[in-house]
Amino acid sequence: MSSDPVDFTFEFNKTVTEEPSIQLERLRRECPVAHVRDDGRFRNYWAVMRHDDVMQVLRQPDVFVNNGHDRLRTRRPPLESDPPEHPQVRKLLQPFFAAKRLEAFEPVSRRLALDLIEPLLASGEGDAAAAIARPLPPQVLLTIFNQPKEDWATIKRWSENSFLERSTEPGDKALFKEADDSLWAYARAAVEDRKRKPRDPNEDPITAMLVGQVDGAPMNEDLVAGTTRLFLAAGHDSTTSTVGTCIQYLAANQEDQRRLRADPALIPAAVEEILRFATPVLSMPRTVARDVELRGRQLKAGDTMRLFFASANRDPEAFDDPDTCIIDRQRARHVSFGFGIHMCIGAPLARQEVRVALEELLARTERFELAGKPEMQFWHPNAPLKLPLRLVTKNR
Ligand code: HEM
Repeated sequence: MSSDPVDFTFEFNKTVTEEPSIQLERLRRECPVAHVRDDGRFRNYWAVMRHDDVMQVLRQPDVFVNNGHDRLRTRRPPLESDPPEHPQVRKLLQPFFAAKRLEAFEPVSRRLALDLIEPLLASGEGDAAAAIARPLPPQVLLTIFNQPKEDWATIKRWSENSFLERSTEPGDKALFKEADDSLWAYARAAVEDRKRKPRDPNEDPITAMLVGQVDGAPMNEDLVAGTTRLFLAAGHDSTTSTVGTCIQYLAANQEDQRRLRADPALIPAAVEEILRFATPVLSMPRTVARDVELRGRQLKAGDTMRLFFASANRDPEAFDDPDTCIIDRQRARHVSFGFGIHMCIGAPLARQEVRVALEELLARTERFELAGKPEMQFWHPNAPLKLPLRLVTKNR
């Protein structure tokens, strides 16, 4: 095992149909807990590459903590939060993602999906990222948060530009600042609005937080804004990536597309496999709370680490034939939604959005295929920013 720090830049699969990352594979094999000096985006951290190790870290939230990561000035719980605060904030939000509630919400998300899919079907050709993957998740999120769904395009633009934080291109820093300031202003305005005009806390997540208790007192208003700000990015960004990668994968793999159209009951398993194969959240940070050993490496209190979900999801120790996308793979324990106390609270909603979009797209087409080379997002190299598609509809 190498003990030298490594500098590495990402070489993720350029599209969901091409080769997987060479570098992740090499590190996972040769130096599974590598000390990274600089990856072009983050500096000076331990990179945890294997499925087993990622799970071991996620199972110990008292040793590997999240509180040190208030990256955007104000903390954004429940993500940037540890116990005992963390479960209390989660409890206020959990009802909005409960199975029964999402079941009742499904006709709404299906209608939103159809309103986006129908114009694309009518024109027979177009950019499926612009038509479906980018608008659907922010529209769903804003609906759940009782904000105007027409705000989706502005929210999407801001949240995409908020990935420009470390870009060295001229003008990008200013775009990042404008986006970050605007998302905070939007979150704070929504909180102010609910303070002035409280809604039913059973129907409105922001009101639920404002009237909810954390440590026996009302939740701090700054943190309510932080949580709202968290949802304005986490609540749609990765779902957009997943809707895009699923459509892209099926456009490029006609046999799998035919299978899902013939047997829509396979769609949920296919979504899980594409989530594993083209992991939307590449990695997430943790801070080491006390000196600890991990796979023979001595980690010190205060060290930063990044858990590479994208690498864990391709670990041959955890998955047979990990670099093949097998849409009916059994028992896939992927970590695309994380695991443990911080496991994605929105996972059931994200699964519903992707499933509903695919169900409607497959049911209304005889076939769809790529009409050009997809352009990938620079911030999530696994997901398309532009996805040219040609569609043959049932009644043509
Ligand atoms: C396919 C889509 C999505 C993916 C791949 C995804 C991925 C993740 C991952 C990996 C984490 C864990 C982070 C960590 O352990 O550090 C997470 C947490 C979180 N996600 Fe998602 N997410 C998705 C959709 C959503 C949606 C739709 C929402 C809300 C509407 C959401 C809200 C959150 C929140 C609030 C957390 C923090 C939970 C906590 O710390 O307790 N996500 N997500």
